[in-house]
Amino acid sequence: MIKSAFRIVTFTALFVGFMPRAFAWDNDRPAELYKLCTSCHAVDGAGNQAVGAPAIAGLPEWYLEAQLTKFHTSVRGGHVKDINGMRMRPIGLTLNEENRKTVAKFVSAMPRPNTPDTVKGKLAKGEATFQVCQACHGAKAEGNQALNAPPLVGANDWYLLTQLKNFKNKIRGYDPAKDPNGYAMAGIAATLDDAAMLNVVSYINSFKPEPVAK
Ligand code: HEC
Ligand code: HEC
Repeated sequence: MIKSAFRIVTFTALFVGFMPRAFAWDNDRPAELYKLCTSCHAVDGAGNQAVGAPAIAGLPEWYLEAQLTKFHTSVRGGHVKDINGMRMRPIGLTLNEENRKTVAKFVSAMPRPNTPDTVKGKLAKGEATFQVCQACHGAKAEGNQALNAPPLVGANDWYLLTQLKNFKNKIRGYDPAKDPNGYAMAGIAATLDDAAMLNVVSYINSFKPEPVAK
């Protein structure tokens, strides 16, 4: 009798003891999930060129979610030549739909960082090429959800260049059935040579995200 009462007390104490932790995890789940990202994308989501991880903070929720799903299903990051994508894919694989949605919402609420300009091409030529891009990505590269085209403004210029090359070299967006949006973009990238890529990315650098995070 005394023994079982003791058991109940011990059990209750344990349960109550664990409760606050369980609730703390629930409340902070988005932040806890984001901790899985900081080693590569940095605490402020501004990215880290040394590991090829771009700025993701402030990207639209729909785009973040779409890309996380592509990494989860290996539609992106599955190609053997996609060195950077292969770094991201294992994390994508571990995130279920609910976690992808939760972390996408959290990252999209972070302020878009002011990424440094690292490439220099010919602006006038880049502006001419950009006339093609703006049809989908918007006049100020702000993106267009209706066309599934993400903002390019505020992105790392080195990352935009790698992606254009990946699209052109059929490392990203190579499967029209599984990745129709990527495939549409790949068709555009195929028309650009290295100089045109450099010029257009330099021109995109002339736009700055609003509001600019310090
Ligand atoms: C081990 C390093 C690493 C970790 C950890 C990591 N990423 Fe990445 N991530 C990358 C790299 C590298 C790329 C660039 C892939 C490429 O070049 O195609 C990337 C790309 C992305 C992209 C695509 C961005 C775009 O503009 O298309 C998103 C979104 C993303 N990561 C979100 C996350 C989130 C959210 C987490 C945490 C849950 C995370 N990443 C954790 C390395 C990482
Ligand atoms: C027909 C519409 C269309 C046009 C025109 C277009 N894009 Fe895209 N672009 C897209 C779509 C859709 C995506 C998203 C692909 C995905 O979901 O992976 C994209 C993605 C990108 C990305 C990857 C961004 C990231 O965060 O990873 C870059 C870079 C890019 N486009 C650059 C350009 C440039 C430069 C031009 C002009 C030369 C251009 N695009 C023209 C539709 C377009």
